[in-house]
Amino acid sequence: MTKKTIAVLPGDGIGPEVTRAAIKVLENIADLHDHEFVFQEGLIGGSAIDEKGAPLPHETKELSALSDGILLGAVGGPKWDHLPGGNRPEKGLLEIRKSLDLYANLRPVKAYASLIESSPLKEEIVADVDFLIVRELTGGLYFGEPKMREENEGEMQAVDTLVYKTSEIKRIAERAFQSARLRKGKVVSVDKANVLESSRLWREIVDDVRGGYPDVELEHMLVDNAAMQLIAQPASFDVIVTENTFGDILSDEASMLTGSLGLLPSASMGSTGVGLYEPVHGSAPDIAGENRANPLAAIASAAMMLKYGFEMEKEAERIEAAIEKVLADGYRTADIASKSEEAVTTAEMTDAVVKALE
Ligand code: NAD
Ligand code: IPM
Ligand code: MN
Repeated sequence: MTKKTIAVLPGDGIGPEVTRAAIKVLENIADLHDHEFVFQEGLIGGSAIDEKGAPLPHETKELSALSDGILLGAVGGPKWDHLPGGNRPEKGLLEIRKSLDLYANLRPVKAYASLIESSPLKEEIVADVDFLIVRELTGGLYFGEPKMREENEGEMQAVDTLVYKTSEIKRIAERAFQSARLRKGKVVSVDKANVLESSRLWREIVDDVRGGYPDVELEHMLVDNAAMQLIAQPASFDVIVTENTFGDILSDEASMLTGSLGLLPSASMGSTGVGLYEPVHGSAPDIAGENRANPLAAIASAAMMLKYGFEMEKEAERIEAAIEKVLADGYRTADIASKSEEAVTTAEMTDAVVKALE
């Protein structure tokens, strides 16, 4: 019996709906494998602002830091969009990533065989899609200082700063090359080195790090071209490593290769040993509270927690197999259902996964 404490931060919008689904699956896995998972809930995002006046209350920070793994839903929504940057729901997410030094955001993108027809792209283009986006998560434009508004020559201007230190680039590059070694041995580093100084340093450091991985192939690609290649020949990618903002944008784009943003999980790993696991998607205010959200991204994120956080590979594979089975059996939430198919609810999809675990 292995005991693990899991911090659960449901957040806003569909966050609580999909997190509930992931917990249900984890509870069943715990029973099947004789583990004990203790779930401790914390507030984050808009719901934390409403109840505690801050997007990442002190208690949530503490709960998370002391846990063995953090399961997060999503934050944000129109209710809080008028708030200043430092007090928005999204700030809670950025703060927890930064405070736990979760610099490596792993976003696997894999086309499920039974969902090939759900992608807007042609079958032959998406059929063999299987790559990993390694997104730098605690640097770049998101965190660079100064970040502010100021008067300049009689008008207001706004400043964000894109800054990367050598050490930040080095550690994310190491992570990408290590991941590639366990996969097909090919890294594409995405940047904008024809324009940005931070990208030129990025390229130099990635080249240096590659020296320690002569067995791994490396290609540098400009981000505008990468956005195009992701649609033109997505199956040619293995590991994509890139800075924070580019990784954010490219991963939402990549989700459509699989059919829906509601399918993509992520793991954020850092230097402290505690990982954070969350779907790539947001709080989806347009469908929140309707029992329509696809819970598979959150469930697959829970599987990543077992695999990367708890070394429970078998258990993670059991969840992944269950997801593949329900999709092969034709279960479709609204986001992946074709016009002729009847969609199941969040709860029905979750129950189907739980049943498929056995
Ligand atoms: P979003 O990801 O919430 O939604 C984009 C579209 O995808 C919507 O049409 C939504 O209905 C759909 N979608 C997303 N997840 C789905 C799921 N599981 N099942 C079915 N459909 C799904 O992005 P947005 O609308 O740009 O942002 C909404 C809010 O979420 C904003 O406040 C934003 O800041 C926040 N956000 C949070 C996170 C996070 O917490 N990690 C990520 C992205 C966006
Ligand atoms: C994501 C989200 C976040 C990000 C926002 C909500 C801060 O879009 O996790 O992809 O940009 O990192
Ligand atoms: Mn995003």
